[in-house]
Amino acid sequence: MSFEISPLENVGVEVQGFDITAEFDEDTAATLVELFDEHGILLFRGQDVTPERQIAFSRLFGQLEMHPIKETTSEDYPELFMLASNPEQEQYLTAYYDGEPVVSRLDWHMDLHYTGKPNRGAVLTAVVCAEEDGLTGFGDLARAWDALDADTQALLETIEVTYAFSMQRKHMRFVNLEGYEPGPYSPRKPSDINYPNFPEVAYPAMVMHPVTGRKVLEICEQFLERVVAPHEAGLSNDEAVDLLERLVEHTRQPEFHYFHHWQPGDMVLWDNWRAMHCATGTRPGIERVIHRTTITGDTALGRVVNG
Ligand SMILES: [Fe+2]
Repeated sequence: MSFEISPLENVGVEVQGFDITAEFDEDTAATLVELFDEHGILLFRGQDVTPERQIAFSRLFGQLEMHPIKETTSEDYPELFMLASNPEQEQYLTAYYDGEPVVSRLDWHMDLHYTGKPNRGAVLTAVVCAEEDGLTGFGDLARAWDALDADTQALLETIEVTYAFSMQRKHMRFVNLEGYEPGPYSPRKPSDINYPNFPEVAYPAMVMHPVTGRKVLEICEQFLERVVAPHEAGLSNDEAVDLLERLVEHTRQPEFHYFHHWQPGDMVLWDNWRAMHCATGTRPGIERVIHRTTITGDTALGRVVNG
């Protein structure tokens, strides 16, 4: 197969000339891996995706994760995670933004970041698409790093930042809470949805990508908590909070973002060690089905904070 690539809006690329129904030879596989490493966010359109094909494609980029939650996994394909709207579950996923109910909205995050060992990447395919809303946003944190001034970069190379998992969005310190109200059925603590009680984790504010060596700004707003021992870097506690606020604002700039509006046949692959993502959610009652495969992160990028 020979590919053409064209830039998506701001970050990431669309790959043309790819056909998921064809056999992948070694050269094709190597080219796809190169594109993945170089661009971090790849869109393929018009693909005739089946679970088998999605799994085989995803395996080109590493070992796949079996999803820990049984109900959301297909019995025949344990590597496939099905994100389907479900009228009975919807109330638990509904919150209010400026008085309007929104289902499954998610702030900028990286998957499993709160464990210190984020996934390597993931593949999403659209099976049933929402006609409006339901966008997935991708943010390139390698580009965000490159765009920082040299003084900020030098400071960030000396500090660690922490992430603290929390179930309640109102407890997250750096997300935009203006106009937000949790829904009456929003879970209050991790055990409400059978999640463990995750400890706080710390990351270098700049993580060197283990595969590509690119510098990645390790800042995303969901679960971001604090700078570790700011005084050691010559910062007051106030300056440390101001710094994180400034960095979160930096990552929110559209020049680092691509928002994907799903069409049937679309497939997106992203590097979860480099790109954050978010979901705009939908109005209640909208049918959506997304199939997801996850490439395991075999390297810890963060560490659990003890004490
Ligand atoms: Fe996610």
